[in-house]
Amino acid sequence: MSNGSAFNYTNKNVVVVGGTSGINLNVAIAFAKAGANVAVASRNIDKVNNAVDLLNQANANGTHLGVSFDVRDNDALTLGFAEIAKHYGHIDVLISGAAGNFPASAAKLSTNGFKSVIDIDLIGSFQVLKQAYPLLKRPTASIIQISAPQAFIAMPLQAHVCAAKAGVDMLTRTLALEWGIEGVRINSIVPGPIADTEGFNRLAPSDELQQRVANSVPLKRNGQGQDIANAALFLASDMASYITGVVLPVDGGWSLGGASIAMTELGDLGAKQGL
Ligand code: COA
Ligand code: NAP
Repeated sequence: MSNGSAFNYTNKNVVVVGGTSGINLNVAIAFAKAGANVAVASRNIDKVNNAVDLLNQANANGTHLGVSFDVRDNDALTLGFAEIAKHYGHIDVLISGAAGNFPASAAKLSTNGFKSVIDIDLIGSFQVLKQAYPLLKRPTASIIQISAPQAFIAMPLQAHVCAAKAGVDMLTRTLALEWGIEGVRINSIVPGPIADTEGFNRLAPSDELQQRVANSVPLKRNGQGQDIANAALFLASDMASYITGVVLPVDGGWSLGGASIAMTELGDLGAKQGL
């Protein structure tokens, strides 16, 4: 393609919720480079503005937009999606990836701590999908949820995230049934350990541990944001037009081995730090 990407999203409207840092920002920039108009959203307005600057650098011809909201606040979501509707009219691709994580044992985690992650990851995703639904272009719209291996691999210190992300993937499957009739596809991407991200740094907080995780990945490296972006570009494209309701690990094969380093190291971390 003349835009340097293997895909062409020119004139497509892409919304990336939680798209202002880390993996999701990589995804947002990849869609902009492929020609799309991209809207990003998250809580922190400075992060939102910085992300929009990066989108403009990636594709000066696109109409890029930043909106600020907390996915737990449905009224704020209504205003944010009204802003998106005003600029774009409809949404071709929705990426839902806002999430929170921290290591904590169930015995010491407060109900509110557990609830905060359920509220952001699961109920937040539900609210985002519902808000986007009336704006989705039918048929052909594509939704991608950014899940995590915790959705199907139990991990110590991750009861809140395991419960939330399992719910996120069941939303993917259920809405594939409900919205497929209108030609709306929805899939989950399950990133493996992705270098230079907040999520990975919180669970593997040293270079040495991150290297050990890399060695435990069948492909012998931690992932890059671009690995996830490539999968998202494919899943949202016509090349994936018969794929819906799929939960796709993009993890170098890590989950096949049960993410075992994370399991043992997180257990040790909990014991050492009294989490
Ligand atoms: N260990 C145990 N409990 C914790 C915790 C930790 N490290 N961090 C927060 N909590 C608890 C708090 O104590 C509080 O519970 P309490 O009222 O019973 O004391 C509850 O979680 C909510 O904390 P608060 O700081 O008010 O939440 P918030 O809404 O400001 O932030 C988080 C949400 C906690 C998920 C925060 O880590 C966040 O914003 N994360 C986004 C970035 C991120 O996690 N990136 C990785 C993505 S995978
Ligand atoms: P990150 O940089 O912290 O990204 C989280 C994004 O969500 C940020 O843009 C953040 O911006 C936003 N966000 C957080 N809470 C929000 C809320 N309540 N409302 C609205 N936006 C909110 O983390 P990351 O590690 O790249 O993770 C991105 C996604 O990948 C997450 O869904 C995570 O579960 C998944 N994942 C990550 C890894 C990994 O190795 N990093 C592995 C598997 C899965 P604000 O702070 O401005 O709100």
